[in-house]
Amino acid sequence: MPLPSISSRIAQELSVREAQVTATIELFDGGATVPFVARYRKEATGGLDDTKLRTLDERLKYLREMEERRAAILKSIDEQGKLTPDVREQIEAADLRRGMRRIAVLDGEGALTAALFLTRKGQLPPREWVAGQLGRTAASGLELLAGRPATPQADRGPIVCVCLGVGANEIGAAGCAGAVSVADIGKATGAGTNCGSCRPAIARLLERRLGEIGEAAA
Ligand code: FES
Repeated sequence: MPLPSISSRIAQELSVREAQVTATIELFDGGATVPFVARYRKEATGGLDDTKLRTLDERLKYLREMEERRAAILKSIDEQGKLTPDVREQIEAADLRRGMRRIAVLDGEGALTAALFLTRKGQLPPREWVAGQLGRTAASGLELLAGRPATPQADRGPIVCVCLGVGANEIGAAGCAGAVSVADIGKATGAGTNCGSCRPAIARLLERRLGEIGEAAA
């Protein structure tokens, strides 16, 4: 679904008419300042007060910057031949109330090839989860727009193996399921099987978990 225009979004946020916002934007673009517009252009803006004009000015700058970034990213994806007009319409989502915009780019087979999250308050889905969706099918693209998996996933715990995105809870669970060495953990979860820098941390976790299992059994 096409996103609303900047003036329409600001009008909604400020609870004013879009024509008021459009007229004010024209004045700002013509070089007028907030105090000038507040004092001498009340007729043109429909009487927007100083506070609303300042908010409008801030939001206009922010949303224009976001538009520029978004356009640059979409252009880059387009240049790689991965963005068709059809797909572009299906993969954008915005949440005005929370100040978020999300873009997921799917290739011809519906697999996710790129994702962009813009947020006003810094709330983003976990990076590992987003990275894990790349290359997956259209369903994961929809999950991505929602910013979370369609079905709740088990808590992985703090990530121990950055290469494979394996968390402490998964390593602990593998220990409970019979893994007794770092190699066993690698077979069960993949952790430690790439660069290997996480193996000492896996060994410590495993030692602790095996100790807990031994104490519980004693
Ligand atoms: S961090 Fe675990 S294999 Fe690289």
